[in-house]
Amino acid sequence: MSKQDIAVVIMAAGKGVRMKSALPKVMHEVCEKPMIGWVVELAKALKPKKIVVVEGHGKQHLREHLHDKGVTFVEQKAQLGTAHAVAQAEGALRTFNGALLVLSGDSPLLTIETAKRLVATYRRCGTAALLTTFMPDPSGYGRIIRDEKGKVEGIVEEKDATSAEKKISEVNVGTYCFDPKALFKAIKKIRNRNAQKEYYLTDTIKIFREAGASIGVCRTEEWQETLGANSRKEVVFAHNYMRDRLVEHWLREGVTVLDPTSTYIGPGVKIGTDTVIKPNTFIEGRTKIGSGCVIGPFVEIKESALGDNVQIKSAHVREAVIGDRASVGPYASLRPGTVLEAGSKVGTFSETKNTVVGENSKVPHLSYMGDAVLGKNVNVGAGSITCNYDGVTKSKTVIKDGAFIGSDTMFVAPVVIGKGAVTGAGSVITSDVPDESLALERSDVKVVKGWAKAKFGTKSPKKAGTAKATKKPAKPAAAQATVKTKAKIKAKA
Ligand code: UD1
Ligand code: CA
Repeated sequence: MSKQDIAVVIMAAGKGVRMKSALPKVMHEVCEKPMIGWVVELAKALKPKKIVVVEGHGKQHLREHLHDKGVTFVEQKAQLGTAHAVAQAEGALRTFNGALLVLSGDSPLLTIETAKRLVATYRRCGTAALLTTFMPDPSGYGRIIRDEKGKVEGIVEEKDATSAEKKISEVNVGTYCFDPKALFKAIKKIRNRNAQKEYYLTDTIKIFREAGASIGVCRTEEWQETLGANSRKEVVFAHNYMRDRLVEHWLREGVTVLDPTSTYIGPGVKIGTDTVIKPNTFIEGRTKIGSGCVIGPFVEIKESALGDNVQIKSAHVREAVIGDRASVGPYASLRPGTVLEAGSKVGTFSETKNTVVGENSKVPHLSYMGDAVLGKNVNVGAGSITCNYDGVTKSKTVIKDGAFIGSDTMFVAPVVIGKGAVTGAGSVITSDVPDESLALERSDVKVVKGWAKAKFGTKSPKKAGTAKATKKPAKPAAAQATVKTKAKIKAKA
Protein backbone atom coordinates (compact mmCIF):
# COMPACT_ATOMS: atom_id res chain seq x y z
CA MET A 1 0.00 0.00 0.00
CA SER A 2 1.28 3.44 -0.79
CA LYS A 3 0.69 6.93 0.59
CA GLN A 4 -1.04 7.78 -2.68
CA ASP A 5 -3.81 5.24 -2.09
CA ILE A 6 -7.27 6.19 -0.90
CA ALA A 7 -9.56 4.18 1.36
CA VAL A 8 -13.06 5.20 2.40
CA VAL A 9 -15.03 4.62 5.57
CA ILE A 10 -18.77 5.27 5.34
CA MET A 11 -20.62 5.71 8.62
CA ALA A 12 -24.04 4.14 8.25
CA ALA A 13 -24.97 2.40 11.48
CA GLY A 14 -27.37 4.95 12.91
CA LYS A 15 -31.10 4.34 13.07
CA GLY A 16 -32.17 7.86 12.18
CA VAL A 17 -34.76 8.30 14.92
CA ARG A 18 -36.09 11.49 13.31
CA MET A 19 -37.15 9.54 10.22
CA LYS A 20 -39.76 7.56 12.23
CA SER A 21 -39.22 4.64 9.90
CA ALA A 22 -38.73 0.87 9.90
CA LEU A 23 -35.89 1.40 7.40
CA PRO A 24 -32.50 2.66 8.58
CA LYS A 25 -32.04 6.32 7.63
CA VAL A 26 -29.34 5.76 5.00
CA MET A 27 -31.66 3.42 3.06
CA HIS A 28 -34.18 6.21 2.37
CA GLU A 29 -34.18 7.02 -1.32
CA VAL A 30 -33.06 10.09 -3.18
CA CYS A 31 -33.81 9.86 -6.91
CA GLU A 32 -34.45 6.10 -6.90
CA LYS A 33 -31.31 5.22 -4.96
CA PRO A 34 -30.85 4.83 -1.19
CA MET A 35 -28.69 7.65 0.21
CA ILE A 36 -25.96 5.12 1.07
CA GLY A 37 -26.01 4.01 -2.58
CA TRP A 38 -25.07 7.53 -3.72
CA VAL A 39 -22.29 7.71 -1.15
CA VAL A 40 -20.86 4.33 -2.21
CA GLU A 41 -21.03 5.42 -5.86
CA LEU A 42 -19.06 8.56 -5.05
CA ALA A 43 -16.52 6.50 -3.08
CA LYS A 44 -16.06 4.09 -6.00
CA ALA A 45 -15.41 6.99 -8.39
CA LEU A 46 -12.29 7.77 -6.34
CA LYS A 47 -10.95 4.28 -7.16
CA PRO A 48 -10.10 3.48 -3.55
CA LYS A 49 -8.23 0.40 -2.31
CA LYS A 50 -11.06 -0.35 0.06
CA ILE A 51 -14.52 0.87 1.01
CA VAL A 52 -15.56 0.02 4.56
CA VAL A 53 -19.22 0.44 5.46
CA VAL A 54 -20.03 0.67 9.16
CA GLU A 55 -23.37 -1.09 9.55
CA GLY A 56 -25.66 -1.40 12.55
CA HIS A 57 -29.36 -0.65 12.48
CA GLY A 58 -31.18 -2.50 9.70
CA LYS A 59 -27.93 -4.01 8.43
CA GLN A 60 -29.79 -6.62 6.37
CA HIS A 61 -31.18 -3.78 4.22
CA LEU A 62 -27.70 -2.36 3.64
CA ARG A 63 -26.28 -5.77 2.76
CA GLU A 64 -29.11 -6.47 0.35
CA HIS A 65 -28.51 -3.20 -1.48
CA LEU A 66 -24.69 -3.25 -1.43
CA HIS A 67 -23.91 -6.97 -1.76
CA ASP A 68 -22.45 -6.61 -5.27
CA LYS A 69 -20.68 -3.27 -4.79
CA GLY A 70 -17.40 -4.66 -3.47
CA VAL A 71 -17.59 -3.04 -0.04
CA THR A 72 -16.34 -4.45 3.26
CA PHE A 73 -18.84 -4.42 6.11
CA VAL A 74 -17.92 -3.90 9.74
CA GLU A 75 -20.55 -3.91 12.43
CA GLN A 76 -21.09 -1.33 15.11
CA LYS A 77 -23.27 -3.23 17.57
CA ALA A 78 -24.30 -0.25 19.68
CA GLN A 79 -24.39 3.26 18.24
CA LEU A 80 -22.14 5.06 20.68
CA GLY A 81 -21.23 7.90 18.34
CA THR A 82 -19.36 8.69 15.14
CA ALA A 83 -15.87 8.14 16.64
CA HIS A 84 -16.96 4.73 17.88
CA ALA A 85 -18.38 4.01 14.41
CA VAL A 86 -15.08 4.77 12.66
CA ALA A 87 -13.16 2.79 15.30
CA GLN A 88 -14.92 -0.37 14.07
CA ALA A 89 -13.08 -0.02 10.74
CA GLU A 90 -9.60 -0.15 12.31
CA GLY A 91 -9.17 -3.91 11.86
CA ALA A 92 -10.21 -3.76 8.20
CA LEU A 93 -7.64 -0.99 7.52
CA ARG A 94 -4.69 -2.33 9.53
CA THR A 95 -2.24 -2.30 6.63
CA PHE A 96 -3.52 0.88 5.03
CA ASN A 97 -1.35 4.01 5.19
CA GLY A 98 -2.75 6.30 2.47
CA ALA A 99 -5.49 8.93 2.70
CA LEU A 100 -8.51 7.79 4.66
CA LEU A 101 -11.68 9.54 3.58
CA VAL A 102 -14.56 9.41 6.07
CA LEU A 103 -18.04 9.98 4.67
CA SER A 104 -21.53 9.90 6.18
CA GLY A 105 -24.07 7.57 4.66
CA ASP A 106 -26.69 10.30 4.96
CA SER A 107 -24.94 12.83 2.65
CA PRO A 108 -26.00 11.84 -0.86
CA LEU A 109 -25.35 15.15 -2.63
CA LEU A 110 -21.59 15.40 -2.20
CA THR A 111 -19.80 15.76 -5.55
CA ILE A 112 -16.71 13.94 -6.71
CA GLU A 113 -14.94 17.27 -7.36
CA THR A 114 -15.36 18.33 -3.73
CA ALA A 115 -14.25 14.92 -2.40
CA LYS A 116 -11.11 15.15 -4.56
CA ARG A 117 -10.42 18.68 -3.32
CA LEU A 118 -10.68 17.45 0.27
CA VAL A 119 -8.19 14.65 -0.39
CA ALA A 120 -5.82 17.17 -2.02
CA THR A 121 -6.13 19.48 1.01
CA TYR A 122 -5.28 16.54 3.27
CA ARG A 123 -2.22 15.70 1.19
CA ARG A 124 -0.91 19.23 1.62
CA CYS A 125 -1.17 19.19 5.43
CA GLY A 126 -0.68 15.55 6.35
CA THR A 127 -2.77 14.74 9.42
CA ALA A 128 -6.39 15.73 8.93
CA ALA A 129 -8.58 17.84 6.67
CA LEU A 130 -12.24 18.59 7.01
CA LEU A 131 -14.92 19.90 4.73
CA THR A 132 -16.87 22.95 5.83
CA THR A 133 -19.48 25.27 4.41
CA PHE A 134 -21.54 28.29 5.41
CA MET A 135 -25.07 27.09 6.07
CA PRO A 136 -27.93 29.57 5.71
CA ASP A 137 -29.52 27.71 8.63
CA PRO A 138 -26.71 25.99 10.57
CA SER A 139 -28.97 24.51 13.25
CA GLY A 140 -28.28 20.84 13.95
CA TYR A 141 -24.73 20.96 12.59
CA GLY A 142 -21.42 21.02 14.44
CA ARG A 143 -19.93 24.55 14.37
CA ILE A 144 -16.33 25.29 13.37
CA ILE A 145 -14.42 27.06 16.14
CA ARG A 146 -11.47 29.15 14.94
CA ASP A 147 -8.79 30.92 16.95
CA GLU A 148 -7.91 34.61 16.63
CA LYS A 149 -5.65 33.82 13.66
CA GLY A 150 -8.49 32.02 11.92
CA LYS A 151 -7.04 28.53 12.42
CA VAL A 152 -9.46 25.72 13.25
CA GLU A 153 -9.41 24.84 16.94
CA GLY A 154 -12.19 22.37 17.10
CA ILE A 155 -15.81 21.53 16.37
CA VAL A 156 -18.63 21.99 18.82
CA GLU A 157 -21.89 20.08 18.40
CA GLU A 158 -25.13 22.07 18.41
CA LYS A 159 -26.26 20.38 21.62
CA ASP A 160 -23.04 21.35 23.40
CA ALA A 161 -22.73 24.84 21.94
CA THR A 162 -23.08 28.09 23.83
CA SER A 163 -25.46 30.66 22.42
CA ALA A 164 -22.47 32.57 21.02
CA GLU A 165 -21.15 29.42 19.29
CA LYS A 166 -24.60 28.72 17.87
CA LYS A 167 -24.33 32.00 15.96
CA ILE A 168 -21.40 30.61 13.92
CA SER A 169 -22.63 29.65 10.49
CA GLU A 170 -19.54 27.78 9.28
CA VAL A 171 -20.37 24.12 9.90
CA ASN A 172 -18.72 20.73 9.90
CA VAL A 173 -20.43 18.67 7.21
CA GLY A 174 -19.23 15.30 8.51
CA THR A 175 -16.78 14.60 5.67
CA TYR A 176 -13.09 14.27 6.55
CA CYS A 177 -9.76 12.97 5.31
CA PHE A 178 -7.31 11.52 7.83
CA ASP A 179 -3.94 9.90 8.25
CA PRO A 180 -5.27 6.50 9.41
CA LYS A 181 -2.58 5.81 12.02
CA ALA A 182 -3.04 9.23 13.63
CA LEU A 183 -6.82 8.90 13.44
CA PHE A 184 -7.14 5.55 15.22
CA LYS A 185 -4.67 6.73 17.87
CA ALA A 186 -6.68 9.92 18.47
CA ILE A 187 -10.00 8.06 18.59
CA LYS A 188 -8.74 6.07 21.58
CA LYS A 189 -8.39 9.31 23.54
CA ILE A 190 -11.95 10.44 22.94
CA ARG A 191 -14.38 10.47 25.89
CA ASN A 192 -18.15 10.78 25.85
CA ARG A 193 -18.51 13.63 28.33
CA ASN A 194 -20.99 15.67 26.29
CA ALA A 195 -24.69 16.40 25.99
CA GLN A 196 -25.37 13.24 23.98
CA LYS A 197 -23.03 10.90 25.93
CA GLU A 198 -21.55 9.92 22.57
CA TYR A 199 -18.02 9.44 21.28
CA TYR A 200 -17.73 12.28 18.79
CA LEU A 201 -15.43 11.89 15.78
CA THR A 202 -15.32 15.69 15.72
CA ASP A 203 -13.26 15.62 18.94
CA THR A 204 -10.28 14.31 16.93
CA ILE A 205 -9.77 17.83 15.58
CA LYS A 206 -9.08 19.26 19.04
CA ILE A 207 -6.78 16.31 19.84
CA PHE A 208 -4.74 16.86 16.64
CA ARG A 209 -4.61 20.58 17.29
CA GLU A 210 -3.33 20.05 20.84
CA ALA A 211 -0.67 17.72 19.46
CA GLY A 212 0.51 20.58 17.26
CA ALA A 213 -0.86 19.39 13.92
CA SER A 214 -2.41 21.89 11.56
CA ILE A 215 -5.88 21.06 10.32
CA GLY A 216 -6.60 21.42 6.63
CA VAL A 217 -9.90 23.04 5.74
CA CYS A 218 -11.61 22.59 2.42
CA ARG A 219 -14.64 24.81 2.00
CA THR A 220 -17.45 24.47 -0.49
CA GLU A 221 -19.67 27.37 -1.56
CA GLU A 222 -22.45 25.00 -2.58
CA TRP A 223 -23.81 24.27 0.89
CA GLN A 224 -26.54 22.03 -0.51
CA GLU A 225 -24.06 19.35 -1.57
CA THR A 226 -23.03 18.86 2.06
CA LEU A 227 -26.52 18.28 3.38
CA GLY A 228 -26.74 15.48 5.95
CA ALA A 229 -30.36 14.36 5.73
CA ASN A 230 -31.70 13.60 9.19
CA SER A 231 -35.44 14.01 8.63
CA ARG A 232 -37.91 13.24 5.88
CA LYS A 233 -38.05 16.92 5.06
CA GLU A 234 -34.30 16.89 4.43
CA VAL A 235 -34.48 13.66 2.39
CA VAL A 236 -37.12 15.31 0.18
CA PHE A 237 -34.91 18.38 -0.13
CA ALA A 238 -32.01 16.15 -1.22
CA HIS A 239 -34.26 14.38 -3.72
CA ASN A 240 -35.38 17.63 -5.31
CA TYR A 241 -31.86 19.04 -5.38
CA MET A 242 -30.56 15.90 -7.09
CA ARG A 243 -33.52 16.00 -9.51
CA ASP A 244 -32.62 19.57 -10.51
CA ARG A 245 -29.01 18.51 -11.00
CA LEU A 246 -30.06 15.65 -13.31
CA VAL A 247 -32.39 17.89 -15.34
CA GLU A 248 -29.65 20.51 -15.71
CA HIS A 249 -27.34 17.81 -17.02
CA TRP A 250 -29.82 16.97 -19.80
CA LEU A 251 -30.38 20.64 -20.62
CA ARG A 252 -26.63 20.91 -21.21
CA GLU A 253 -26.70 17.75 -23.32
CA GLY A 254 -29.17 19.11 -25.89
CA VAL A 255 -32.48 17.98 -24.42
CA THR A 256 -35.29 20.50 -23.82
CA VAL A 257 -37.03 20.07 -20.50
CA LEU A 258 -39.88 22.58 -20.54
CA ASP A 259 -40.76 22.50 -16.86
CA PRO A 260 -37.91 21.19 -14.67
CA THR A 261 -39.96 21.52 -11.49
CA SER A 262 -42.56 18.99 -12.65
CA THR A 263 -40.16 16.68 -14.48
CA TYR A 264 -38.17 13.77 -13.12
CA ILE A 265 -35.38 12.16 -15.13
CA GLY A 266 -33.73 9.40 -13.12
CA PRO A 267 -30.00 8.74 -12.86
CA GLY A 268 -30.26 5.62 -15.05
CA VAL A 269 -31.84 7.45 -18.00
CA LYS A 270 -30.15 8.28 -21.32
CA ILE A 271 -31.69 10.77 -23.78
CA GLY A 272 -30.74 11.76 -27.32
CA THR A 273 -30.42 15.34 -28.55
CA ASP A 274 -33.39 17.45 -29.66
CA THR A 275 -35.81 15.45 -27.60
CA VAL A 276 -38.41 17.61 -25.84
CA ILE A 277 -39.71 16.61 -22.42
CA LYS A 278 -42.99 18.31 -21.59
CA PRO A 279 -44.37 18.99 -18.07
CA ASN A 280 -45.43 16.36 -15.56
CA THR A 281 -43.24 13.66 -17.00
CA PHE A 282 -41.43 11.02 -14.92
CA ILE A 283 -38.75 8.86 -16.52
CA GLU A 284 -37.29 6.18 -14.29
CA GLY A 285 -35.09 3.11 -14.18
CA ARG A 286 -32.70 2.18 -16.96
CA THR A 287 -34.57 3.93 -19.72
CA LYS A 288 -33.14 4.97 -23.06
CA ILE A 289 -34.80 7.61 -25.22
CA GLY A 290 -33.64 8.46 -28.73
CA SER A 291 -33.33 11.78 -30.53
CA GLY A 292 -36.10 14.09 -31.66
CA CYS A 293 -38.75 12.56 -29.42
CA VAL A 294 -41.60 14.51 -27.83
CA ILE A 295 -42.45 13.07 -24.43
CA GLY A 296 -45.31 14.42 -22.32
CA PRO A 297 -47.19 16.10 -20.92
CA PHE A 298 -48.33 13.61 -18.24
CA VAL A 299 -46.15 10.63 -19.07
CA GLU A 300 -44.57 7.98 -16.85
CA ILE A 301 -41.87 5.78 -18.40
CA LYS A 302 -39.96 3.04 -16.58
CA GLU A 303 -37.30 0.58 -17.74
CA SER A 304 -38.00 1.11 -21.43
CA ALA A 305 -36.16 1.73 -24.69
CA LEU A 306 -37.44 4.31 -27.18
CA GLY A 307 -36.09 4.94 -30.68
CA ASP A 308 -35.93 8.30 -32.45
CA ASN A 309 -38.84 10.68 -33.14
CA VAL A 310 -41.22 8.85 -30.83
CA GLN A 311 -44.24 10.80 -29.55
CA ILE A 312 -45.89 9.98 -26.23
CA LYS A 313 -48.52 11.96 -24.36
CA SER A 314 -50.56 11.14 -21.25
CA ALA A 315 -49.39 7.56 -20.97
CA HIS A 316 -47.81 4.93 -18.73
CA VAL A 317 -45.00 2.94 -20.28
CA ARG A 318 -43.27 0.15 -18.41
CA GLU A 319 -40.67 -2.38 -19.66
CA ALA A 320 -41.56 -1.61 -23.25
CA VAL A 321 -39.58 -1.17 -26.46
CA ILE A 322 -40.80 1.53 -28.82
CA GLY A 323 -39.47 1.91 -32.35
CA ASP A 324 -38.73 5.04 -34.37
CA ARG A 325 -41.66 7.35 -35.16
CA ALA A 326 -44.12 5.34 -33.08
CA SER A 327 -46.86 7.25 -31.28
CA VAL A 328 -48.47 6.53 -27.94
CA GLY A 329 -51.48 8.02 -26.17
CA PRO A 330 -53.21 10.00 -24.98
CA TYR A 331 -54.40 7.78 -22.12
CA ALA A 332 -52.54 4.64 -23.10
CA SER A 333 -50.91 2.02 -20.90
CA LEU A 334 -48.02 0.01 -22.30
CA ARG A 335 -47.26 -2.82 -19.90
CA PRO A 336 -44.24 -5.13 -19.71
CA GLY A 337 -43.32 -6.98 -22.86
CA THR A 338 -44.84 -4.44 -25.22
CA VAL A 339 -42.91 -3.90 -28.45
CA LEU A 340 -44.07 -1.17 -30.80
CA GLU A 341 -42.27 -1.38 -34.11
CA ALA A 342 -41.38 1.61 -36.26
CA GLY A 343 -44.23 3.94 -37.19
CA SER A 344 -46.84 2.08 -35.15
CA LYS A 345 -49.44 3.60 -32.88
CA VAL A 346 -51.22 2.75 -29.64
CA GLY A 347 -53.77 5.46 -29.06
CA THR A 348 -56.52 6.69 -26.80
CA PHE A 349 -57.57 4.42 -23.92
CA SER A 350 -55.65 1.42 -25.22
CA GLU A 351 -53.63 -1.08 -23.21
CA THR A 352 -51.00 -3.54 -24.34
CA LYS A 353 -49.19 -6.30 -22.44
CA ASN A 354 -46.66 -8.79 -23.78
CA THR A 355 -47.61 -7.73 -27.29
CA VAL A 356 -45.84 -6.81 -30.51
CA VAL A 357 -47.43 -4.14 -32.68
CA GLY A 358 -45.77 -4.46 -36.10
CA GLU A 359 -44.47 -1.73 -38.36
CA ASN A 360 -47.07 0.93 -39.17
CA SER A 361 -49.81 -1.01 -37.41
CA LYS A 362 -52.39 0.89 -35.39
CA VAL A 363 -54.38 0.25 -32.25
CA PRO A 364 -55.90 3.73 -32.10
CA HIS A 365 -58.85 3.56 -29.68
CA LEU A 366 -60.22 1.72 -26.63
CA SER A 367 -58.50 -1.64 -27.16
CA TYR A 368 -56.72 -4.27 -25.10
CA MET A 369 -54.01 -6.31 -26.81
CA GLY A 370 -52.47 -8.93 -24.52
CA ASP A 371 -50.17 -11.80 -25.59
CA ALA A 372 -50.68 -10.71 -29.18
CA VAL A 373 -48.44 -10.43 -32.21
CA LEU A 374 -49.62 -7.96 -34.81
CA GLY A 375 -47.83 -7.98 -38.15
CA LYS A 376 -47.24 -4.93 -40.36
CA ASN A 377 -49.96 -2.50 -41.46
CA VAL A 378 -52.64 -3.99 -39.26
CA ASN A 379 -55.51 -1.73 -38.31
CA VAL A 380 -57.38 -2.59 -35.14
CA GLY A 381 -60.83 -1.02 -34.93
CA ALA A 382 -62.02 0.76 -31.82
CA GLY A 383 -62.93 -1.38 -28.84
CA SER A 384 -61.25 -4.59 -29.99
CA ILE A 385 -60.00 -6.93 -27.31
CA THR A 386 -57.89 -10.06 -27.02
CA CYS A 387 -59.57 -12.49 -24.64
CA ASN A 388 -56.17 -13.94 -23.69
CA TYR A 389 -56.86 -15.34 -20.24
CA ASP A 390 -59.28 -18.09 -19.32
CA GLY A 391 -58.54 -17.83 -15.63
CA VAL A 392 -55.79 -20.45 -15.79
CA THR A 393 -53.60 -19.92 -18.83
CA LYS A 394 -52.69 -17.09 -21.14
CA SER A 395 -53.14 -17.71 -24.86
CA LYS A 396 -51.81 -15.99 -27.91
CA THR A 397 -53.51 -13.99 -30.63
CA VAL A 398 -51.70 -13.61 -33.95
CA ILE A 399 -52.91 -10.98 -36.39
CA LYS A 400 -50.95 -11.14 -39.62
CA ASP A 401 -49.82 -8.37 -41.99
CA GLY A 402 -52.45 -6.09 -43.44
CA ALA A 403 -55.39 -7.52 -41.48
CA PHE A 404 -58.27 -5.11 -40.94
CA ILE A 405 -60.01 -5.58 -37.63
CA GLY A 406 -63.59 -4.33 -37.37
CA SER A 407 -64.54 -2.31 -34.32
CA ASP A 408 -65.38 -4.27 -31.19
CA THR A 409 -63.86 -7.57 -32.36
CA MET A 410 -63.22 -10.08 -29.56
CA PHE A 411 -60.36 -12.50 -30.19
CA VAL A 412 -60.91 -15.64 -28.12
CA ALA A 413 -57.29 -16.82 -27.96
CA PRO A 414 -55.54 -18.89 -29.11
CA VAL A 415 -56.50 -17.63 -32.52
CA VAL A 416 -54.76 -16.62 -35.76
CA ILE A 417 -56.06 -13.96 -38.15
CA GLY A 418 -54.54 -14.44 -41.60
CA LYS A 419 -52.82 -11.92 -43.84
CA GLY A 420 -55.16 -9.30 -45.23
CA ALA A 421 -58.14 -10.87 -43.43
CA VAL A 422 -61.06 -8.75 -42.23
CA THR A 423 -63.24 -9.18 -39.17
CA GLY A 424 -66.73 -7.72 -39.00
CA ALA A 425 -67.59 -5.18 -36.34
CA GLY A 426 -68.79 -6.76 -33.12
CA SER A 427 -67.62 -10.28 -34.03
CA VAL A 428 -66.44 -12.80 -31.45
CA ILE A 429 -63.67 -14.71 -33.20
CA THR A 430 -63.31 -18.20 -31.77
CA SER A 431 -61.45 -19.91 -34.61
CA ASP A 432 -58.61 -19.10 -37.02
CA VAL A 433 -59.36 -16.89 -40.02
CA PRO A 434 -57.53 -17.79 -43.25
CA ASP A 435 -55.60 -15.17 -45.30
CA GLU A 436 -57.67 -12.67 -47.27
CA SER A 437 -60.96 -13.87 -45.71
CA LEU A 438 -63.81 -12.10 -43.95
CA ALA A 439 -64.87 -13.42 -40.56
CA LEU A 440 -68.23 -12.12 -39.50
CA GLU A 441 -70.42 -13.04 -36.62
CA ARG A 442 -74.02 -11.90 -36.98
CA SER A 443 -77.43 -12.80 -35.62
CA ASP A 444 -80.34 -11.05 -37.30
CA VAL A 445 -81.18 -7.59 -36.10
CA LYS A 446 -84.82 -7.54 -35.03
CA VAL A 447 -86.64 -4.49 -36.32
CA VAL A 448 -90.08 -3.70 -34.95
CA LYS A 449 -91.73 -1.19 -37.22
CA GLY A 450 -94.13 1.34 -35.69
CA TRP A 451 -93.10 0.27 -32.20
CA ALA A 452 -92.92 3.73 -30.69
CA LYS A 453 -96.32 4.78 -31.91
CA ALA A 454 -97.90 1.64 -30.56
CA LYS A 455 -96.30 2.15 -27.17
CA PHE A 456 -96.47 5.91 -26.65
CA GLY A 457 -99.09 7.05 -29.05
CA THR A 458 -96.62 9.31 -30.79
CA LYS A 459 -94.22 8.96 -33.69
CA SER A 460 -90.93 8.38 -31.88
CA PRO A 461 -89.63 7.79 -28.35
CA LYS A 462 -87.83 11.11 -28.57
CA LYS A 463 -90.99 13.00 -29.24
CA ALA A 464 -92.67 11.13 -26.40
CA GLY A 465 -89.99 12.52 -24.12
CA THR A 466 -90.16 16.13 -25.28
CA ALA A 467 -93.95 16.02 -25.50
CA LYS A 468 -93.96 16.09 -21.69
CA ALA A 469 -94.36 19.86 -21.47
CA THR A 470 -97.23 20.14 -23.93
CA LYS A 471 -99.00 16.81 -23.68
CA LYS A 472 -99.43 14.46 -20.77
CA PRO A 473 -97.30 11.33 -21.36
CA ALA A 474 -98.92 7.91 -21.43
CA LYS A 475 -97.17 7.02 -18.12
CA PRO A 476 -95.51 9.44 -15.66
CA ALA A 477 -92.09 7.72 -16.07
CA ALA A 478 -92.36 7.55 -19.83
CA ALA A 479 -89.15 9.40 -20.60
CA GLN A 480 -87.11 7.08 -18.39
CA ALA A 481 -88.80 4.00 -19.74
CA THR A 482 -87.87 5.13 -23.22
CA VAL A 483 -84.17 5.17 -22.44
CA LYS A 484 -84.31 1.70 -20.89
CA THR A 485 -86.19 0.23 -23.80
CA LYS A 486 -83.73 1.72 -26.25
CA ALA A 487 -80.85 0.03 -24.37
CA LYS A 488 -82.70 -3.31 -24.50
CA ILE A 489 -83.18 -3.10 -28.23
CA LYS A 490 -79.50 -2.31 -28.69
CA ALA A 491 -78.45 -5.27 -26.54
CA LYS A 492 -80.65 -7.64 -28.53
CA ALA A 493 -79.33 -6.39 -31.88
C1 UD1 B 1 -22.56 14.78 12.59
C2 UD1 B 1 -21.39 15.58 13.16
C3 UD1 B 1 -21.69 17.06 13.04
C4 UD1 B 1 -21.94 17.41 11.60
C5 UD1 B 1 -23.02 16.52 11.00
C6 UD1 B 1 -23.08 16.72 9.51
C7 UD1 B 1 -20.46 14.23 14.98
C8 UD1 B 1 -20.36 14.10 16.46
N1 UD1 B 1 -21.22 15.24 14.54
O1 UD1 B 1 -23.71 15.05 13.38
O2 UD1 B 1 -20.61 17.82 13.54
O3 UD1 B 1 -22.30 18.76 11.48
O4 UD1 B 1 -22.73 15.14 11.24
O5 UD1 B 1 -24.14 16.01 8.94
O6 UD1 B 1 -19.86 13.47 14.26
N2 UD1 B 1 -23.43 6.94 12.76
C9 UD1 B 1 -22.97 5.68 13.01
N3 UD1 B 1 -22.81 5.29 14.31
C10 UD1 B 1 -23.07 6.09 15.36
C11 UD1 B 1 -23.54 7.40 15.09
C12 UD1 B 1 -23.70 7.80 13.79
O7 UD1 B 1 -22.69 4.91 12.10
O8 UD1 B 1 -22.88 5.64 16.50
C13 UD1 B 1 -23.60 7.36 11.37
C14 UD1 B 1 -25.03 7.69 11.02
O9 UD1 B 1 -25.70 6.55 10.51
C15 UD1 B 1 -24.88 8.77 9.96
C16 UD1 B 1 -23.55 9.44 10.29
O10 UD1 B 1 -22.86 8.54 11.15
O11 UD1 B 1 -24.81 8.22 8.67
C17 UD1 B 1 -23.72 10.77 11.00
O12 UD1 B 1 -24.42 10.57 12.20
P1 UD1 B 1 -25.57 11.54 12.70
O13 UD1 B 1 -26.16 10.99 13.93
O14 UD1 B 1 -26.46 11.89 11.58
O15 UD1 B 1 -24.66 12.81 13.09
P2 UD1 B 1 -25.14 14.28 13.27
O16 UD1 B 1 -25.80 14.44 14.59
O17 UD1 B 1 -25.85 14.74 12.09
CA1 CA C 1 -26.42 13.72 10.07
